[in-house]
Amino acid sequence: MKVLVVGGGGREHAFCWRLGRSDSVEQVYAVPGNAGIAQEHRCFSQDIKLNTEILALAQHLDVDLTVIGPEAPLVAGLADKFRMHGLSVIGPGAEAAQLEGSKIFSKQFMKRHGIPTADFAVVESMSELEANLTRFGFPVALKADGLAAGKGVIIVRDEDEARETGTAMLSGEVVGDAGKRLLIEQFMTGEEVSFIVLSDGKTFFEFPPSQDHKPIFDNDLGPNTGGMGAYCDPRILSTEERQVILTTIVENTLDGIRSDGYPFVGFLYFGLMMTENGPQVLEYNVRMGDPETQPLMYRMTGDAGELLLSAARGNLNPKTVGWDEGPTCCIVCAAPGYPSSYPQGLPIAGVDEAEATGAKVFHAGTALQEGNLVTAGGRVLGVTAGGQNLASAIGNAYAAAEKIQFDGLHYRKDIGQKGLCRW
Ligand code: GLY
Repeated sequence: MKVLVVGGGGREHAFCWRLGRSDSVEQVYAVPGNAGIAQEHRCFSQDIKLNTEILALAQHLDVDLTVIGPEAPLVAGLADKFRMHGLSVIGPGAEAAQLEGSKIFSKQFMKRHGIPTADFAVVESMSELEANLTRFGFPVALKADGLAAGKGVIIVRDEDEARETGTAMLSGEVVGDAGKRLLIEQFMTGEEVSFIVLSDGKTFFEFPPSQDHKPIFDNDLGPNTGGMGAYCDPRILSTEERQVILTTIVENTLDGIRSDGYPFVGFLYFGLMMTENGPQVLEYNVRMGDPETQPLMYRMTGDAGELLLSAARGNLNPKTVGWDEGPTCCIVCAAPGYPSSYPQGLPIAGVDEAEATGAKVFHAGTALQEGNLVTAGGRVLGVTAGGQNLASAIGNAYAAAEKIQFDGLHYRKDIGQKGLCRW
């Protein structure tokens, strides 16, 4: 089959790489892709904001399947457009994509369907914020309703900070229109876990649990990023925890969205907080996580193409894939200054040396300038490796990451430590 991957980050490079190793897949294309994907597959430059252009590209290439990586095109209805024209696609329609596109929609959905999540109030003005200011105690989370590229959640410690942050968000200063409606939400403590399923609208395929590292610095310090590294190890959840997640969260969500009239076809990501009172949903994403996809795709065996095509066609066949025994780990190499402003065009060295260790270097913010690999984004590379146990997976990923060089390169030194401490 021929597959088109939409997007150009580390997640999409990992999809392309895994699909390229599937017996059923003859050709992988990407739009727009990135410098790493382009070394392995043909990339196209259409603007992924333009649904009609992406549909025309898929039709021109006569692809059998399209996998939509990022959330924005899903919220903008790209999957609906493909389905309207009879094309097989992985990704929910615009209505179901509201689970990620609107935090208010998703919290109201969870409340309606009895899915465990923190208590909250919707705030559209400073007077509504004042009315709810002390309701959940402190710290408390202020969350922008709309898509905000990982910048829409701010934890505030007291009333003054809540007023200041609320004013900045509601005025559009912080995340533009995405913040003009807010949630004020009870703060939850515990460990975060990423739990992802692939659904065909009726049943689902469960990925092993993974754990992201959102803050920029070690020990979870500093501002949040898109994710500075992730590891995948089935031991992240006990058998009991996994069962509770499947019954109270995954099944209730998929049944709920179906009974609301929007069966979910695609990846559904549950950002969970493992609290004293059991797992609670922090957020939904209507796509795979980035960087979680990198260690997950590295660990997957079998035919990912068959798995995805079966889901897109509504007859999910989970037997097409399996998993390597050992855990996997991805270290994100970031540009200096990220997640604030950062330079671009910094020459990158050491990718071949990193891969010579057996790791895979997934590209994210990279470009070719006069034939030379340079940085072109905040998260630049995701160095991914496996091992017989978590310690060796982490060690192998860091041994490879040490080979990468560019001015001001930053990566966290503690990816996977929570897992190592636990076991
Ligand atoms: N890793 C979190 C996300 O993809 O949003």
